[in-house]
Amino acid sequence: MKLLEGKTAVVTGGARGIGKAIALKLASQGANIAITDLALDDKSKAVEAELASYGIKAKAYASNAAHYEDTKKVIAEIAREFEKIDILVNNAGITKDGALKRMTEEQWDMVIAVNLKSVFNFTQAVQPYMWKQGAGSIINMSSVVGVSGNANQANYAASKAGIIGFTKSVAKEMGTRNIRVNAIAPGFIETEMTAALPEEVRKGWNEKIPLRRAGTVEDVANVALFLSADLSSYVSGQVINVCGGMNT
Ligand code: NAI
Repeated sequence: MKLLEGKTAVVTGGARGIGKAIALKLASQGANIAITDLALDDKSKAVEAELASYGIKAKAYASNAAHYEDTKKVIAEIAREFEKIDILVNNAGITKDGALKRMTEEQWDMVIAVNLKSVFNFTQAVQPYMWKQGAGSIINMSSVVGVSGNANQANYAASKAGIIGFTKSVAKEMGTRNIRVNAIAPGFIETEMTAALPEEVRKGWNEKIPLRRAGTVEDVANVALFLSADLSSYVSGQVINVCGGMNT
């Protein structure tokens, strides 16, 4: 028996990286999957096909997670086509790093809109469906940087810390309807996002990690699976660090 048979999951930013790995992991456990990303292009269509190879229903949607009305529209469409939404993974995120003294208003606003406002947009949009079902699991992608802070990432760290406050608040608000809300705080995970970091920064990170390696997308996807499934039925309002022991 698979862990997520008959469930429907929505994964934002699912066309690559951690989001793609989570979508594939949940599909491998029998969940039907809707992924959203900025564009409906060859990349997201290829992920859709890979997901469908698990014998589940899969569809990719174009949606800018930072846009409130766009989000309402795409969730209504997903609910119509999949008939229910049991799991939401708020994964879409970007970085626009820089020292505070040089950070532009645009760098600040964009990161807050894509990383934090998107979580509000999607959580509010799925909430009526989960409320009606009396069940649901929402997983928000924070970061160790949101827990501990990081130089040159004030905008990113603020957005990821904001996600933690949001997660804990909504968990308290929706717990009575058996809707669980948790955050994952990954450390240094090998993806296209971190590939953009300079080599010495990447080396420095590795030296700080007790497990002496960067994380893989699979490491994060496994925790997302745990939080999606009934295995975590009494876990809500928590932040799970997936960082090789770096944040203790
Ligand atoms: P990535 O850059 O490889 O993938 C992010 C995906 O989100 C892309 O497909 C992108 O097109 C999509 N996206 C960006 N803006 C969007 C928007 N406005 N609407 C819809 N989709 C959008 O990033 P990665 O590394 O897979 O990260 C995924 C999440 O995990 C992000 O929230 C990131 O902040 C978080 N994270 C990543 C860590 C890492 O080491 N890679 C560490 C901690 C957190």
